[in-house]
This record gives sequence, C-alpha cells and structure tokens, in this order.
Amino acid sequence: VQRIAVLTSGGDSPGMNAAIRAVVRKAIFHGLEVIGIQRGYSGFIDADMGPMNLSSVADIIHRGGTILRTARSEEFKTPQGRAKAHENVLRFGIQGLVVIGGDGSFRGANVFHEEYGLPVAGVPGTIDNDIAGTDYSIGFDTAVNTVVEAINKIRDTATSHERTFILEVMGRESGHIALTAGLAGGAESILIPELDNNINEVCEKLYRGYKRGKLHSIIIVAEGAASGLEIGKKLHEMTGLETKVTILGHLQRGGTPTAFDRILASRMGATAVEMLMSGNAKHMVGIAGGKIVSESLADTFKCKNAIDLELYKLAGILSI
Ligand code: F6P
Repeated sequence: VQRIAVLTSGGDSPGMNAAIRAVVRKAIFHGLEVIGIQRGYSGFIDADMGPMNLSSVADIIHRGGTILRTARSEEFKTPQGRAKAHENVLRFGIQGLVVIGGDGSFRGANVFHEEYGLPVAGVPGTIDNDIAGTDYSIGFDTAVNTVVEAINKIRDTATSHERTFILEVMGRESGHIALTAGLAGGAESILIPELDNNINEVCEKLYRGYKRGKLHSIIIVAEGAASGLEIGKKLHEMTGLETKVTILGHLQRGGTPTAFDRILASRMGATAVEMLMSGNAKHMVGIAGGKIVSESLADTFKCKNAIDLELYKLAGILSI
C-alpha cells in the first residue's frame, strides 16, 4: 500500500479531527501518501479530494467538527454513485480508505468493498455511541460531558424555582447519551428508546419526591424515546405541576473534544492505518475493555451497541 484516502461521513462528532490527524501522521510516518476527501462520500463521488501533509493536520487536535467536512450522501447508496467513486479511486491511485463515521457510513464502505475490493478501515465517530463492536465511539464522551454541564446549569434554576425540567437530548435510535448523562447528572427519570417508558412511573416518582419535600426534578428524554415537549405537556396534565422543557439539539454535537475522545481518536486513527498496511481490509477499529480491537465491518451495522441495563437499574435506584 502506498497511497490511502481518508474521509469523514454522517453526523460530525468532537474528536473526528484528532482521528484525521492520527491517520495522516501515522501514514506519513510509515512513508505512505494520504488523500483527504471532502464532504464524505459526496466528495468521493465528485472528486473533491487532494493530498494532505503533516501541516494539513496541524492545530486541529482540539477542534470539534471535521476539517474534511461531512455529509450524508444519498447518491453513494446507488450503484451509479458508487461507480463514479470507483472511477476516482482509479484516477487518484487510492489503495485503501479510512472511513470515520457511524453505522450508515460503514454500511456504504462495506458495499463498496464488496463491489470493488477496495480495502477499507472504519473508525467509529458518532456522539450516539450506537455502533456494535466497540464500547465507545469518538465524540460520545464529549457529548455526555456537554449534556452533564447543561444539567448542572438547569439544576440551578430547577432548585431555585422548584420546577420540573424535561431535557431532550440527542439519540434518534439510541439512549446512550441520555442514560450516561442522566446517571452522571443525577436525573430523576431517564427515558430511552431501547426500553418501554412508562409515564405513570415517571409521575409516581415525581409524587414520591414531592411528598418528602423535594420540589424540583430533572427528567432526561432521548429524542428517539419521545418528544420532550410532549412529555412536558403530559406530565403537566397528569400532575398539575409546572413543567419546563429544554431541547439541547446540536449544541451536543460541537465543542472541543475531551481528552478521552482525543486519545481514543488518536489510537483508533493510527490503528486504521495499520489495518490497511497489514491487508486487514474490511474491518472497523473498536475498543473493548480498554483494548483496541478489530471488528468485521459487516457486523457493525446489523445491530446496535446495547445499552448497559445495570447502569439503567443503578440510575433508577439512586434516584428513588
Ligand atoms: O447521529 C448523530 C445525531 O446527532 C443523532 O443523535 C441525531 O438524531 C442526528 O444525528 C441529527 O442529524 P442531523 O444533524 O442531520 O439533523
């Protein structure tokens, strides 16, 4: 392998830049050339790409977002779109591809590998932490810390005004952010898409709290479980309490990555290059029990990274 390419795809996540930096520098360290592809698979199709060097990735380890930009390409889902991308593989002499993104991006990489045989290495980058085959994806830790900071701030007002706050967090199909941030932030109830959420139980918990004089509550709702606004309305109707709803939205996707995410990204990006150099062609880098592992790309999007039920139970016990 002499020349590899790297792209970021799907929703951006803090730490993607640290991963790009690791890919570029590790590759150059081993004497490889690196092509940076802009706007994910869209740039792969449109030939929006060019060489990267050591200074292309200077001063980015601490920046959120992705310097390569990103997109969710519909065209790459079509055989015609992928055929155009393959023309660019030949034109630019690309012999291996690092894809930094989520499960949808890996699905695309896997199909492309099956059709054209290009060696691909996946690096999990999404705040959702929903990718099977890895304990953590890049950006999750930063997003959780952002949510915890928001909970701390909202808690001040919740306590001062004796109000019930509903905080809607990201996670279209995944409750990892809600659960982890909810536990760390001391939320009273956590609603996630992986489990049946019983609004009556949320109410009972509120009543129990109010009976013993607790006049404020924080409820975390993953967007995939329910709409925060609807939960707020329902709880108001059921309890008569004043409810306030905050939707954190894209605040959770940006910001300077935590040290955890930078180190994870550095380790994963470097390993992806090693994978391509050793001919380990169709795998994702993962982390399991603190150790870097390799997972078949095809196994990363068939199911989701499961929620830790023990953590969920613990959050329930500690907010009794
Ligand atoms: O997959 C990451 C994520 O932030 C989800 O949590 C969220 O549902 C989705 O992306 C939002 O996507 P977009 O930025 O395209 O609206």
